[in-house]
Formats: sequence, C-alpha cells, structure tokens
Amino acid sequence: MPQHSAIDESPVALDPSSGTGHQLSRPAFHFTSPSGWINDPLGLTFHGGTYHLFYQHVPGAADWAPQCRWGHATSDDLLTWTTGPVALEPGEGDGGCWSGSIATGPDGAATMFYTSVDDDAFEIGRARTARPAPGSDITWEGWVKGPVVAELPDGEESVAFRDPLVFHDGTCWRMIIGSGRPDGTAVAYTWTSDDLSAWRYDGVFASRHSSETDGVWTGSVWECPQVVRVGEKWALLVSVWEPVRPHYEAYALGDIVDGRFVAETPWRRLTYGPSYYAGAVYRDKDGSPGMVYWLRHVSDSEAGWAGAHSLPHRLALVGDRLEVRLPLSLEGRRGTGWPLAELRERELPVGGAFDVEWTQGGSLSLDEGIRNVFRLERTGGPEGGTLTATCDLGQWSVPCSGPVRVVVDGPIVEIVGSFGALAFPALREGGATLSSRDAAGTAYPLG
Ligand code: FRU
Repeated sequence: MPQHSAIDESPVALDPSSGTGHQLSRPAFHFTSPSGWINDPLGLTFHGGTYHLFYQHVPGAADWAPQCRWGHATSDDLLTWTTGPVALEPGEGDGGCWSGSIATGPDGAATMFYTSVDDDAFEIGRARTARPAPGSDITWEGWVKGPVVAELPDGEESVAFRDPLVFHDGTCWRMIIGSGRPDGTAVAYTWTSDDLSAWRYDGVFASRHSSETDGVWTGSVWECPQVVRVGEKWALLVSVWEPVRPHYEAYALGDIVDGRFVAETPWRRLTYGPSYYAGAVYRDKDGSPGMVYWLRHVSDSEAGWAGAHSLPHRLALVGDRLEVRLPLSLEGRRGTGWPLAELRERELPVGGAFDVEWTQGGSLSLDEGIRNVFRLERTGGPEGGTLTATCDLGQWSVPCSGPVRVVVDGPIVEIVGSFGALAFPALREGGATLSSRDAAGTAYPLG
C-alpha cells in the first residue's frame, strides 16, 4: 500500500485473488463503468435535455491509482447510462484529475472545477478549471483545461487538500475545498467569485476537530464537502476521512452567515454500512436536491470492472433532519407486487433485482444454498424499532421507523428509511433465494 493512499479499503477489503471466486454480474440500475476502476460521482447535472454524470476513473485497472480521469456518462432517467469518451485526463500539468464539481452560470455556460494533483505527492492538490471545448457546449464531451484558481492558503498546514465544490450562496459564487490540519481538525476552506473565473480567498467555511463527538464524529479530514439548499436550510455534507480511511457521510443543517457555515443542528450520520462514500449533491430536472454516492466493495475482477454508484437519493427536510428518499421511477420496471408474507423462496438469479417496500417487523434474507448472503431483521413496529443488516462484511444496526425501501440489484443492496441510507454488497456466486419471515410490505421483481 502506498504511504499516502487516498483510498484504503483494508478494513473490509475483498481480495479477488483469495479464491472465493465471487461472480457478481453487473447491477441493472446502478452505474458501473464498462471496464476499469471508478470511484466518486462528480458534477451530476441535467443539461441540454439529459443528465450528465462524471466520475473518478482509472481505465483498465482493478484498483484505484493516483492517475484518475474524469469519466463521462449520460442518462435520461438516472437509471440507465451511456458511457461517453473520457472528459479529462492527466497531462498539461496534472498527474491526476481528482474530484470536484461543475457550476453552470446564468448564461448556461459550464465551468468544471477539479483537483489537479502531482502523481508523487498527491494529498495536497489545487483547484483547476476546465471549460467545454468549442462545439461541446451541449454535449459536454470535450473539455479544455484552464488555470489553477485556488491553492492551499498561505500559512495553512494540511494533510489533505482537494475536492472543490462550487455553488451559488444567494449573493455570490462560493467554492469550498476539503482539508484537514495536522492537529486533527477537519476543515472546509472557502473562496468567492462573481463570475466563476476570478476567485478570492475568504477563510474557513467550517471546521471541526476529530475529538468532537457530539451527535457524530466527523473525522480529521473532510473529503468531498458538499453544500446544498434543502427547504429552508443549508446542508453541509462531508465524507468523513481519517488518513487513510474513508468512513461515511455526515451532515449538519444551518445557515451561511458572512461566508461561514453556522450549524443549527447536531452533526448526524446520513449513511451506514461499508459502501457509501464520496457523496455528490445534484438537482434533478425539477430542481429537487439529491445525493449520489460511490459504492465501495462492489467489483468483478474477471469481468474487469470495479466500483459502482448508488441510485439517486432525493433529500428532503423533515423537522430538523434530512430525509432520504429513492425518487427513481421504477414503476414501469416493476413486476406485479405481492405481499412480503408470501415471499417464500423467490428465486433471484445473478443480476436479478428486487424492490421491496417494507412496513412492519420481520426478516428478509437472501440465501445461496445453505449460505446466508445477507439477512435483514426489523424489530419494533412502524413507530420505532431497529433494523439490523448482516452480511459477510459485518453487521450494522440503525434506528428505524416508518416505511423502509430495500433495493437488491445484482451485487448491491441499498436500504433507505427514516435513519438515512445503508448499503452493502451482496456477494454470491450463483442464483439465490429471497425469503421473508413475518415481514409486512410488498415486494416487486424488477425486470
Ligand atoms: C474520495 C477521494 C477524493 C479524491 C478522489 C481521488 O473518494 O479520495 O478526496 O479527490 O477520491 O480519486
């Protein structure tokens, strides 16, 4: 393992050469690259009548490497994607093109903000821009690199500095960049601009020391900090990192006052399980805010792809919390539903998918012969209880009330409910059977 690895999967690493021989097949509704490695989703935008998704990509590789590109794919429905040519690659001063975001000005012109890194000392990057190449204003296929617009501020010491996110805060354009000081303080620095071209350093947008654990621990570095307006509040969402280990997505809700994020709620967790990381905010074509994540630990080394993205998650403000919903229209893709209580030994072929609406206690499990691939146990009624998920990689319990949505899509399980979102890989070699015990709700096969 390199000394400075941005991505360390060791705590729950799957070793494709370990002889377990998992044949995963691709998920049907989650984005994967035709080949090679992917991680963070980037700059998801509805533009020119279609959704554009960018992502960290290492062509032909089964593992992450510093020489990341920005891959590009398009979709009409956020569920089925067409991969296009790579949008941005190393060169012209970049050892790697790491994560960032896209901002679209009032004239519809896009600016890409990405992290330019050297490939030998890559933890400290710089924010660089790119603009659509002539003729690519609509397709966003070709990009021309521009200047570096933000670097680690003078006098600041940092163990990591990357991932510019640009948004309009109501008065000006604002960029935030994730970082962490050597003393264990996670930081988001900020810059402002009136035209997306000239940027002025504006100090620390938000920070929190890793010793603070009220609500939830938020690590010693923030990767991919995101800001989005949800209802009447600003949400600051961060990928919690401690060198060199990714953890989960955490958030606080509050206001932006004089260029500072002022939290009005405790910090909370939005995601659970080993898979979700590097969430990126987006707005769908109706303007609703949402998040899409990198899903870790999903790969098929024999088929030559590694990494997937989550389904789009819509964010809503409910009281003083963020609520996660799956807005995807699976209607036309659903088979006839039947009560979960009747879900007995329903066969789920490799690559098969299920969408489950779960309202009451009971259990749901997937078994491959005598091996249990995963088991979900829900105790308590709709008013409150616990949901526990168990699979090869571990066990996670979340407080749970109200309806819960479970999507099993080939090698991926995503569960969304009042607690936020929980995902893990469902690794199996062949067909498996889905069954339920005492669970109330409806299951739909996805075709
Ligand atoms: C998050 C991350 C980012 C970085 C990118 C590199 O997963 O580590 O901080 O820009 O991935 O691929």
